[in-house]
Amino acid sequence: MKTQDIIELEDQFQLATYAKLPIAVERGIGCYLWDADGRKYLDFYGGHCVTPLGHCPPAVVEAIREQAGKLLFYSNVVYNATRARAAELLVSILPSFIDRVFFCNSGTEANETALKLARKATGRPRVVAFKQAFHGRTLGSLSVTWNERYRAPYLEVLGPTTFVPLNNLDAVNEAVGQGDVAAVIVEPIQSMAGMVEVDSSFLTELGNACRNSGTMLILDEVQTGVGRTGTFSISEQMDVEPDLITMAKSLGSGIPVGAVLATRAVADTVELADQGTTFGGGMIAMAAVIATLETVVGEGLMDRAAEIFDSIERGVAGLGVSVRGRGCLIGIELDRPAKPVIAALREDGVLVGGSGDPRVIRLMPPLNTPDDVVDEFLASFKRVMAVPSEASTV
Ligand SMILES: Cc1ncc(COP(=O)(O)O)c(C=O)c1O
Repeated sequence: MKTQDIIELEDQFQLATYAKLPIAVERGIGCYLWDADGRKYLDFYGGHCVTPLGHCPPAVVEAIREQAGKLLFYSNVVYNATRARAAELLVSILPSFIDRVFFCNSGTEANETALKLARKATGRPRVVAFKQAFHGRTLGSLSVTWNERYRAPYLEVLGPTTFVPLNNLDAVNEAVGQGDVAAVIVEPIQSMAGMVEVDSSFLTELGNACRNSGTMLILDEVQTGVGRTGTFSISEQMDVEPDLITMAKSLGSGIPVGAVLATRAVADTVELADQGTTFGGGMIAMAAVIATLETVVGEGLMDRAAEIFDSIERGVAGLGVSVRGRGCLIGIELDRPAKPVIAALREDGVLVGGSGDPRVIRLMPPLNTPDDVVDEFLASFKRVMAVPSEASTV
């Protein structure tokens, strides 16, 4: 089937909930994707920040194949060696204040689980979240997601949330001072908002404010986790010890998996049947997690992520843009609207993301992107930026 036929068929039978690129992808290797018409793309978008090792990394593909030959799935009603090893490996890579993991299937499910655990542990109903935050689209996570477009139609069923401005300690103190707040949930880098970074000192103070008020701190590392920002958890670069961390996206290299990571103190509040999901901790996902983690750690890819950031920052210097984010979670603030630049890059064979900031493009390259591929991206970016944008004069 050719691209146009695939587009028509999918649009005919799928609910129209997504704004899609006019591309039908067929296969991928490393940093590259090919569409149904044989066109090759350099992929610095990673299907929403999902491919830490690029497409079809051999170690992950092999691990899935081997597991598929043994057992596709069994639920948490039984024990399993692959799940045991994945849990052990994940907890051992994380900072020592993390003691336990709950496996689920996505970022939104991880956040909802963390919110449930915090409400149960504190006996409080309210959550503090930040303006511009994105934590997911299902009803629990939606209650802490800022964008009115997603949230407004469901207000009557969403949990009580106080949204405060990012990096504003007074607003946080006032909110948690009310005594009814179970948790503060924060993305250390607000990716969807345009790679807006939380100040490191604010995060430390936020941690203190939470501790002093008996409020739990949830770090949403759905995008920043799994080494993408240069350390496995971004908390390792900051002076903060959250009570709960959530991860997903990169964790299974494309196999759906989420994780809620909890301190011993949180784990001690959990009782049988507090949370559950049929597919969480399934064997295929766990095999993918093990292979992903072993590769990220074994190949030194967290350090490589930081190098890639530096190369891109150096490479775009002098183009009138500014770079933010960390590691392989990169925002480039342009001197012109992002939309035409994203489209021109795509025409040139490069996929990148947009964001809530109309002048910011997002790059989420694999952590093992080699230097020559970074150079290939930079060459394309320079070609595109060399064409004066009509809109840039606006
Ligand atoms: C920071 C953050 N949290 C949570 C989510 C939701 O993850 P999922 O789409 O896997 O439910 C996303 C998705 O983009 C995200 O960026």
